[in-house]
Amino acid sequence: MKHLDQAAEELANDGIVAIPTETVYGLAGNAMSEAAVKKIFEIKGRPSNNPLIVHIKSLDDLGKVAKDIPDVAYTLAKKFWPGPLTLILKKKDHIAKAVTGELDTVAVRVPNHTLTLKLLEKLDFPLAVPSANPFSSISPTTAAHVFSYFGDKIKYILDGGECQRGLESTIVGFDTNNSPVIFRYGSISVEEIERLIGPTKKYIHDNKRPTAPGMLSRHYSPGTECYLTQNINKMIASFEGKKIGLLLFKEKVASTQFIEQEVLSETGNMKEAAKNLYGAMHKLDQKKLDVLLFQELPETGLGITINDKLRRASSKF
Ligand code: TXA
Ligand code: MG
Repeated sequence: MKHLDQAAEELANDGIVAIPTETVYGLAGNAMSEAAVKKIFEIKGRPSNNPLIVHIKSLDDLGKVAKDIPDVAYTLAKKFWPGPLTLILKKKDHIAKAVTGELDTVAVRVPNHTLTLKLLEKLDFPLAVPSANPFSSISPTTAAHVFSYFGDKIKYILDGGECQRGLESTIVGFDTNNSPVIFRYGSISVEEIERLIGPTKKYIHDNKRPTAPGMLSRHYSPGTECYLTQNINKMIASFEGKKIGLLLFKEKVASTQFIEQEVLSETGNMKEAAKNLYGAMHKLDQKKLDVLLFQELPETGLGITINDKLRRASSKF
């Protein structure tokens, strides 16, 4: 447990530590410390009005960070925590201002990773944790991804292996009537949420609706130019003479052009596709190709989340 003690000490001294979660790796700092949170924003290069998610060790701690919690929030938390669900709730005053920007709400979740839960047990404060990638880049699902982004800029990376879910948490907020609203598609599908609490509004941000902070169109983006398409063969043909990277759902394509191919799940399993998504994007992005083409997945279950990420990754704005 030496590594956990070291990480805990670093965090207690306002240091920043990269930690594993079941969704993606995160950059963690003390959510009660303005100084620590400021460092997170600096390292990520993230605009300060884009708030962070506070990570707590169990549902029992929810009352320490949030207030006026609707019953339906408890219904969701009891079912999905620890796990990839983030709730947006009214915040308690002692949360560092920098965590939530100007908002009076706080995003909070209990991550489902043994190492990180053990780390949270050692701390007497919650952690503010955004994904461990520079602003708007592809999210990291291995410790190696984090290291390739930040190198020695972060003193400590807790290596917890490959992230089991591979997609960010699903974010659920509440309107003025306390009705739930899905703010970000994520690792828990809309169907799973609605099976529990019934039909739910969606408020998925695009740049035309700038009131929901942070969920910008361009996000999760490779450095290589990229496009999302339903007709992969037609798209390949339109890039004749180029070195093309393909991100495919179930199977490779035959082509006489120069292509590198990554398949997300040969059996068409959405969970497997989700787990492999960011790793495959990282791989293709490192191959110095001219263009990346993403095949749209069936728009159902986690396919909705994956398509949303691919749409943002290939957004030009
Ligand atoms: O799976 C995850 O949630 C990962 C892991 C590390 O836990 N974290 C993550 O954090 O995805 P980040 O910072 O990359 O994304 C947080 C999102 C942002 O889009 C931000 O705008 C939104 O949460 N958010 C945070 N606080 C909010 C608030 N009070 N109201 C609305 N949106 C909020
Ligand atoms: Mg992120």
